[in-house]
Amino acid sequence: MNSAQACPVFRSRLLDWYQRNRRDLPWRENRDPYRIWLSEIMLQQTRVAAVVDHYGKFLIRFPTNKKLASARESSVLAAWSGLGYYRRARMLHAAGKEIVKRYAGRFPRTADELRALPGIGRYTAAAIASIAFDEPIAVVDGNVERVIERLVGERLPKKELWQTAQELLSPRRPGDFNQAMMELGATICLPREPMCLACPVRGMCATRGELSRAGKKTRQKKQIHFALDCHQGAVFLVERPKHASLMPGMWELPEIPGHNGTAKAWLTLRHSITVTDYLVRVARCPAPQGICGSWFSHRRLAKLPLTGLARKILRAANVI
Ligand code: ADE
Repeated sequence: MNSAQACPVFRSRLLDWYQRNRRDLPWRENRDPYRIWLSEIMLQQTRVAAVVDHYGKFLIRFPTNKKLASARESSVLAAWSGLGYYRRARMLHAAGKEIVKRYAGRFPRTADELRALPGIGRYTAAAIASIAFDEPIAVVDGNVERVIERLVGERLPKKELWQTAQELLSPRRPGDFNQAMMELGATICLPREPMCLACPVRGMCATRGELSRAGKKTRQKKQIHFALDCHQGAVFLVERPKHASLMPGMWELPEIPGHNGTAKAWLTLRHSITVTDYLVRVARCPAPQGICGSWFSHRRLAKLPLTGLARKILRAANVI
């Protein structure tokens, strides 16, 4: 894939394939910028399957930007619970408020304006502007990067990746084109075993999948212990520090530090956060002495911003 003349053929093959094979995802039902923005923020660090589970519920709670912008931050965080990377939810909320204040609730329509909002970087601004408003601007995420590098047959610096994506882009259907590139990377041009026989642009590809990714990320394994302290229909929880870099201000079970890993746990489960796989052991016992926390009735738990792991444990323990 090299010459400019190849672009129209590339576009039409890719777009035809996308039309026939695109996944039926909830944010593809219409072009409401609020819904597209929300999906792009959720998809930033979370797999499509996990986003699909949370997206509909979040929209029931906050169907419009107006509802989101007028909510308390703790309600937004509670609705985000389970998706992780809570900074995204705070930024979403802040951007929602700014849209109401600065733009009288009307969504800005260009990538440049969108990029000035909290939590919206180059990729997200281009995704929203192209998908919701037809701005002819290309996106590059991890999937698009892989597709382009295999097409041209070499690793490219960031600047050239964005340039190449822009040259390939269909100026008439930029939103579909961008989504088609991401879709190709997510379903056909896979990192380890690309399905080249099913690829609509294999005839124009320099590598046919040979340019595999070097160096798999290694995952760490850790154990962590928590106390599930329940008393008279209430459970004892601890608030994470307001200035913690991960999940600030969210509630979790009290940790039992330095707990002997062989002690008998009442409940054991697995949980993955970023590059770490945790073996989580939960003991039914009072919280360790001196830990500051609060008691919450089961009913109040529904509205509390819990960490994803706390929610998982409380569900497994039938508390919520
Ligand atoms: N990843 C992030 N946004 C996406 C979209 N709209 N389509 C496919 N993959 C995506």
